[in-house]
Amino acid sequence: MTIDSQLTHAVLRVPPLIHFGWGSAASVPGIVSGLGRRVLVCSDMNLIGQPDFALLHTTLVAAGCQVEIYSEGRPELPLSTIDAAVAAASRATPDVILGYGGGSSIDLAKIVALLLTHPGPVSRYYGENKVPGPLLPVVAVPTTAGTGSEVTPVAVVADPEREFKVGVSSPWLIPAAAVVDPALTRGCPTRVRAHSGADALAHSLEALTAGHRTPTWTVDLPVFVGSQRLGNSLALEAAASIGPNLRRVVADAANEPALTAMSYGSLCAGMAFGTSGTHLGHALQYSIGAATHTSHGLGVGLLLPYVLEATRPVCDDRLAQAAAAWGIEGPDPAGQVIDEVVAILAGAGIPRTLADIGLERRELPRLAEQAARFERLVANAPILADDEVLLAILHAAWSGDRPLARRR
Ligand SMILES: NC(=O)c1ccc[n+]([C@@H]2O[C@H](COP(=O)([O-])OP(=O)(O)OC[C@H]3O[C@@H](n4cnc5c(N)ncnc54)[C@H](O)[C@@H]3O)[C@@H](O)[C@H]2O)c1
Ligand SMILES: [Fe+2]
Repeated sequence: MTIDSQLTHAVLRVPPLIHFGWGSAASVPGIVSGLGRRVLVCSDMNLIGQPDFALLHTTLVAAGCQVEIYSEGRPELPLSTIDAAVAAASRATPDVILGYGGGSSIDLAKIVALLLTHPGPVSRYYGENKVPGPLLPVVAVPTTAGTGSEVTPVAVVADPEREFKVGVSSPWLIPAAAVVDPALTRGCPTRVRAHSGADALAHSLEALTAGHRTPTWTVDLPVFVGSQRLGNSLALEAAASIGPNLRRVVADAANEPALTAMSYGSLCAGMAFGTSGTHLGHALQYSIGAATHTSHGLGVGLLLPYVLEATRPVCDDRLAQAAAAWGIEGPDPAGQVIDEVVAILAGAGIPRTLADIGLERRELPRLAEQAARFERLVANAPILADDEVLLAILHAAWSGDRPLARRR
């Protein structure tokens, strides 16, 4: 695998401790008790009822921890959940927060840690670099292979006063430790497995194709710095691991090597996009998700081939690196790698077009205008993406005619 030697800078912000491996959840009690005795678990009912959690709970108590459990977490993290969790947390006065679950539970743990350390409401921290300093430590233990939230500086919130989901992005949100045990993903429902896996694939390939920007070297770099050498290296490692395995874990939830590869790929993709950032697929998904009530992973997965097609004028060399990571050889590696992305997503049951998820063609201009408001994401693209470019991608994604994404 060759990394672009033209890239002369690199930035990486990750948790100080990352454990990855089948059975690594056994290390959680030692890590947590090293950070404090009073522990608040942020999770949801589906996970709390499973034997894996019962075992973790028992071993936490055996390690001398006093454990409170907030189990009312909800997918996509509504604000009401945050208020209830913070109220429970204020009573428990924890030393450490354990986020156990999918991206929604880990994001909840991050926001609870934020609001126990700094004054609310959470809306004052929406956007980039608004968090003033360190938080209560968060230990993140994912049970999906997808969001990478266990290593990222982001938490995504659904605020009923806002038309779209909003993000809090700050390096202070990066967990103190991430323990990624693929065994915990065994119970994950097939749909969640497919959608969160598509999200991880989008993280790796959007991070790889993000715009190149030479940083101004200050402490306050933007949270997402664009494509850079360590990010690209991790993005390719992620793509290599996710590419052949997403279909396998959707077809067979008991395929341990494939589950392991997906968790590893998701972790690497989180480290890549947590510093490099994502771009157009994520911007467009905000408006499409709000219009169709489809999940984040489904939206960014569906859009990915069309977004990659739009980036081809400047990203063919990087897409060729992804082709090499997948063992693809041929005259048009960039085109072939996008064909492979289409096949991977089809194999995971991700719809192919925006028409397939019920959007009307006449809605597209409004959706393009809305996506343009996510300026941070749009500006992280490798191409200048004005409304016309965003609309071209949407037309391509609506009709399934990929080359349309490059015609404007
Ligand atoms: N912070 C970040 O960097 C980041 C990145 C991408 C997405 N996100 C956010 O993450 C959220 C999506 O997270 P997700 O895709 O991991 O799903 P999720 O956390 O929303 O969970 C979806 C459902 O799957 C269930 N589930 C998860 N793991 C399970 C398991 N092992 N066994 C049984 N049930 C299980 C949950 O109980 C829940 O009902 C969205 O809110 C998205 O915006 C955050
Ligand atoms: Fe994502």
